[in-house]
This record gives sequence, structure tokens and C-alpha cells, in this order.
Amino acid sequence: MRATAIAQPNIALIKYWGKRDTANNLPAVGSISITLDGLHTRMTLSDESAVAEDVLVVNGKEDPAMLPRISRCLDSVGGRDRQRLRIESECNNPIAAGLAASASAFAALVVAADAVFGTSHNQLTLARLAGRASGSAARSLYGGFVELDKGDADIELQTLLEASAWPLTVIVAITTAGPKPVSSGDAMELSRQTSPFYGRWLEQQSEDLDAARSAIAARDFGRLGAIAEHNCLKMHSVMWASRPPMIYWNSATLACMQTVRELQADGLDVFFTIDAGPQLKAVCAPEHAAAVREALTATPGVTEIMQSDLGEGARILVD
Ligand code: PMV
Repeated sequence: MRATAIAQPNIALIKYWGKRDTANNLPAVGSISITLDGLHTRMTLSDESAVAEDVLVVNGKEDPAMLPRISRCLDSVGGRDRQRLRIESECNNPIAAGLAASASAFAALVVAADAVFGTSHNQLTLARLAGRASGSAARSLYGGFVELDKGDADIELQTLLEASAWPLTVIVAITTAGPKPVSSGDAMELSRQTSPFYGRWLEQQSEDLDAARSAIAARDFGRLGAIAEHNCLKMHSVMWASRPPMIYWNSATLACMQTVRELQADGLDVFFTIDAGPQLKAVCAPEHAAAVREALTATPGVTEIMQSDLGEGARILVD
């Protein structure tokens, strides 16, 4: 038995920040994201060597630290008495640096596990299981523009627009490639417990979701950019106001923001978003991608640039 799945990270335009149920990892708010195609995690599961315990190899190196989370996710797909597996993950984006590597990893994992265990779960069930492991991973089961509704008993998901229906390009400006100092899960809990803005964040999210949904339906770049930047800065304001404050940015993140403002002033279709890390993601019209890339490359403190168009949801790769 052997299966390989591939999944792409997704970037939230309307952010998931906060949990309503930590035990089941259910989000306190809905979110809207775009799935990328340039970055990926390829996950191969095999029981060929009939291993007694799961073994996790990430980019060619054993990774015992990450293994318990991976094993729990496999249990959720195949049951606790499932076959133990060798799990080989190959990822072409910096892990734990706010580039959604865990989203693509868990999305690929549930899809590959479903094939290896022969469980034939549907896409929504697999998305919910991925979401148990990493909230944002649920969205990487779907392609294009994806909405995650927080739902009542459990999350609901849908593609709002296919990737090909509104081509956009994402330029990622990497400012520090190391792992983030505090995980997004811990930072969310800190926000919930200590930020005076957390309650307002929850209250306003459905307005932002409505605005983004309508901008996407109308393919209105200006309106989508305005609401995405607002929602991103609001999420970071919640974090900045927590105790202790949670600041993921560095000076290069701010310099990149300034670069995007200058490009906007020159009339380019571009906006930024930033997740739980110091990297800035610039979303732009494909015809403006070369200029955005050049300007971000020249921004002081940017160490690396990655570029991606929009892509498909997680899927099995046939050898
Ligand atoms: O899925 P997690 O637990 O890594 O949380 C992701 C949180 C953000 O990336 C900051 C926002 C989002 O919606 O992806």
C-alpha cells in the first residue's frame, strides 16, 4: 500500500484568528482564502516495510518532533487501530515561518491517508479532519477562492470561484526564513485571553466576509484589496494589543508594506496580507507581477522572493 498526495498552501484574505473550541480546534470566525500553486507539500504514505510505529521523514530527515500531530491526524482518518506508516513529506516552502506549510502538509496528509486506508471519505469530511490538525489546512482541500464558514456543529467549506475564473499572482517576500517564535495556536489563545480588541474582532468578521465575498463575485480588485488589508491589519492589531504583545513583523515587513503602498500610488493592482510571521504576501494582477516582484526584491531586508499563481485543492498524484 502506497499513496502520494500533493497540496498547496493557501493564503487567507479574510483571516481565521481565534478558536471557539480548542479541544476540537474549531474556529471562532469564518475565513476566505486563495489556494496557491507554486508552493507545495508532497506526502507519500507507505506500509511496505511493515513498520511497527509511524516514521516521519521531512525533506529527507527524520522529524520525531512533528510526528505525534501527524499520527493523531492519521488516527482521525483511519481509526486508532490503523496500519502504522512511513510518512515522507517533501515541502518546497519554509516550514513554520508563516507560509502555511502546515496547511499544505495536513491537507496532503488526509488525502493520502484516505487512499492508503481505503476509507473513501468525501472532500468535506477530509477538510474537517485536516482542520482538526491545523485550522487553515481545511481550506487547502479546495482550489481557487475558498470560503470556510465556521458552521454550527462543524465547519463548512466551498469554492467561491475557481482559480482559472480570476487569475491572480501572489509574490511572497521572505524576510526571515526561521521558524516563528510562537505558534499561531498559542498566539490565538493569548489574543482571546488578553486582547481588549478580541471581542470586536469576532463581532466584525461577518461584515468583512460579506464584503470580500461580494468583491470576489464582482472580481473587483480594488474592493477585495481594501477589505483584505483592513482585515489583516485588524488581526495584527488584536495581537499587538495582547499581553504580552505578539508582534510577528520585523522592519523589513514594514518596508515591504511601504513598497506596496508606493506601487499602489503608481496605479498598480496590488495589495498585501501578512499571517503569523514576518513575510509579506503581495497579491497582484498577473500583468503587474514582474513590477511587484522587482520592487519587493529591491526592498531592504528581503532575503528571498517566491511567486505563485492560484491553484487547485489537495489531490492524489498517480505515480
Ligand atoms: O491554521 P493555523 O493554526 O496555522 O492558523 C492560521 C492563522 C493565520 O494564518 C494567521 C490566518 C489564516 O486564516 O490562515
